[in-house]
Amino acid sequence: MKLAVDVRRHAYDDLLVLSDVSFTVADGEVVCIVGPSGCGKSTLLGIVGGLVRPTDGTVATEGALRPGTLNPVTFVFQDFALLPWRSVRDNVGFPLEHHRLSSADREARVSDALARTGLADFAGALPKQLSGGMRQRVGIARALAVEPALLLLDEPLSALDAQTRELLMDDFGRLWMGAGITALYVTHNLDEALRLADRIVVLSRRPGRIKDIVSVGIDRPDRTAVAAAPRLAVLRERLWSLIRDEAASADREMARA
Ligand SMILES: Nc1ncnc2c1ncn2[C@@H]1O[C@H](COP(=O)(O)OP(=O)(O)OP(=O)(O)O)[C@@H](O)[C@H]1O
Ligand SMILES: [Mg+2]
Repeated sequence: MKLAVDVRRHAYDDLLVLSDVSFTVADGEVVCIVGPSGCGKSTLLGIVGGLVRPTDGTVATEGALRPGTLNPVTFVFQDFALLPWRSVRDNVGFPLEHHRLSSADREARVSDALARTGLADFAGALPKQLSGGMRQRVGIARALAVEPALLLLDEPLSALDAQTRELLMDDFGRLWMGAGITALYVTHNLDEALRLADRIVVLSRRPGRIKDIVSVGIDRPDRTAVAAAPRLAVLRERLWSLIRDEAASADREMARA
């Protein structure tokens, strides 16, 4: 699915949150959004996903859906948003309950999503019996079960410790990127963006405007190789120089509030 985002402005009452945020996402492309706290990243994702109506702007999608796609646009959240009383299997199957499917198709989708996220042995467990990383795998499996055309991820790894985040970044690389899913991925973490994105949209502090769009330009599987480190360091420095002053002033603003 191809995406053209053109948010001229978005305000909550008098609070201007986004201004002139226009960019495109190509079919199968992963675009990360980075920017300081409160600059409107989640709002932008909400607008793209149709949860928030922009004050002035449009989001256009283009492209035929695959036959198996049940929910074209699917969210993955930072806090996993699992149903605590349901097993892993039933959490993953939850969005399928809103669709007319044969029970064989339903079971095949759930089993496939569990297998792809390494959860096959945990199907009967409850969320509270799982580590944070495994819980987010459930969130991802649930998203995959509907075969989305566009995945919207709002800081999906931010609640996890550094090592678990590493593991899940590897998984992401294999999973949805291999499947050619178009994704918009919000993160505070520059290393995450540099590992996962094709391009990185850098937003200013509120009201969020586009400061720059940075192409990573290194094949995703090569990014963990030592040989890629110097190029990644240059990109990281560039991103940080774009964000540093914005983050510092956003931080001071939050402290005053
Ligand atoms: N429903 C709402 N009503 C009023 N104000 C809101 C609403 N949602 C968000 N805001 C405000 O809009 C601004 C942008 O919020 P948003 O959550 O989009 O930012 P963010 O970049 O995702 O922040 P963070 O990095 O903390 O996740 C913030 O000042 C927030 O308080
Ligand atoms: Mg947010």
